[in-house]
This record gives sequence, structure tokens and C-alpha cells, in this order.
Amino acid sequence: MKNIVVLTGAGISAESGINTFRDSGGLWEGHRVEDVASPEGWHRNKQLVLDFYNLRRADVLKAQPNAAHIALVELAQYFNVDVITQNVDDLHERAGSKNVLHLHGEILKVRSQAGKQQVYEWRKDLNIGDTCELGSQLRPHIVWFGEAVPEIANAIRIVRKADICIVIGTSMVVYPAAGLIHEAPRTASIYFVNPDVNAVPQMPNLHVMAEKAASGVPMLVNQLIQDQC
Ligand code: APR
Repeated sequence: MKNIVVLTGAGISAESGINTFRDSGGLWEGHRVEDVASPEGWHRNKQLVLDFYNLRRADVLKAQPNAAHIALVELAQYFNVDVITQNVDDLHERAGSKNVLHLHGEILKVRSQAGKQQVYEWRKDLNIGDTCELGSQLRPHIVWFGEAVPEIANAIRIVRKADICIVIGTSMVVYPAAGLIHEAPRTASIYFVNPDVNAVPQMPNLHVMAEKAASGVPMLVNQLIQDQC
């Protein structure tokens, strides 16, 4: 079976009702990114950061996978599929995808601010005073700006084995995630699904679908399955 690597960003969850990051004038739900998604922001105002992610967590719990998440599951009947997502929601998993790597963490998990060992599943609001068993304040299990991306080495290893790469709904501006596509073998076919074609990188073997994910991804999946049969 051929290896397909799917790289997803906020755009794949947009039609599930989860807002993207960069479609609102540099602000993220009315906040400067550095206030709510950086270690400095956390040290400055923990309550603001907790309130912000509590709302994001509630949004994710209300959302449902859309036709794009679901189509990717069908692809796994015909190909070895790995999903590498920048998203912190669990919509790929809820749709039924098995191999999902979260580059930027997961909103339904929290961890100790003292270290990365104590990670817990978390579906309710997180408050000041919620601590790990060693007594340290818990924080969202999210990779913030200025922090290392622990899963990047695994992601590079996966992309280097791709026969086909599908890039869905990312503005390709946040590194190191945006550089992953350049780790694909030169022979790999690259498919890019995004209604905004300005985000498209210049690459050989590139096929651009200027479509929203919920319509473009099922079309692409059908095409790939037919080509395979
Ligand atoms: N279908 C497909 N793509 C869409 C859709 C849709 N329905 N709606 C919007 N898009 C595209 C936009 O054109 C844009 O290119 O999704 C992209 C969203 O870009 P960003 O908001 O920048 O999201 P992303 O690329 O995932 O951001 C990367 O930045 O803030 C950080 O850590 C955060 O993981 C995030 C990272």
C-alpha cells in the first residue's frame, strides 16, 4: 500500500464551526496571540489564558467532524494514512482516523506547568488551583509560541516516507510545521486543498484544489481511490 501523509491546519475544522487563526486581522478571538498563546502571556495573566482555552475547549466539545475529516478515514481502507495536524481539536480522532500526530498539542489534555511528564485528559474548565498530583498548577497541553515542538522529529520521519502528501487548510506560515512539506520525497505527489491559493508553496508535482475542505477533500479522496483501483 502507498503511504499518504495528510497535513492539516485550522481550515479543515472551519466548517465544523471552529474559527481559524489568521482570518480575523491578526487577532485570535479578540486577543493578541502573544497574550494567550505564549509562556510570557501565561506568566503575566494565567486567568486570561485559562479563560481563553476554556472557551476553546467548550467550542471543540460542541463541534462535530465534517465531511473532510470523514473522507480521510475512508482513504485508510486503500492507503497507509498518517495525519499530522496543527490542530488541537480531536475531530480527526472522532471521525475515526487512527494515526494522528498533534504537532501543537491537544485542547482536551492538560499538563503540569512544572514539566511535561504529568499529562491528563481534561474535558471541563481548567481553573487556578487545579494542580497535578505533585502540587503544580496545571496548564493547557498546547505548544505555545516560543516553545519547542516535541513531535517535529516524528513528523519529519513520517513525511519522508510519503508517496502522496495532502495539505489541507493551513496558511503555511507557522514553522516548523510549514517546513514539513519540503521533507517529502521529490517524487511524491502533493495535493493542496485551500480556498485561498495565495498560501500555496511553489513545488514540483503540486496539484492545487481551490476548494473548501468539506467539498474538496471528499472529491480528492474519491479521485485517489479511483486512481488506485
Ligand atoms: N477549508 C479549507 N481551508 C480553509 C477553510 C476551509 N473551509 N477556511 C479557511 N481555510 C484556510 C485559510 O485560507 C487559511 O489558509 O485555512 C487556513 C487557516 O490558516 P491559519 O488560521 O493560519 O491556521 P493554521 O495554518 O492551522 O495555523 C497554524 O498557528 O496560531 C497557530 O498554533 C496555531 O496551529 C496553529 C498555527
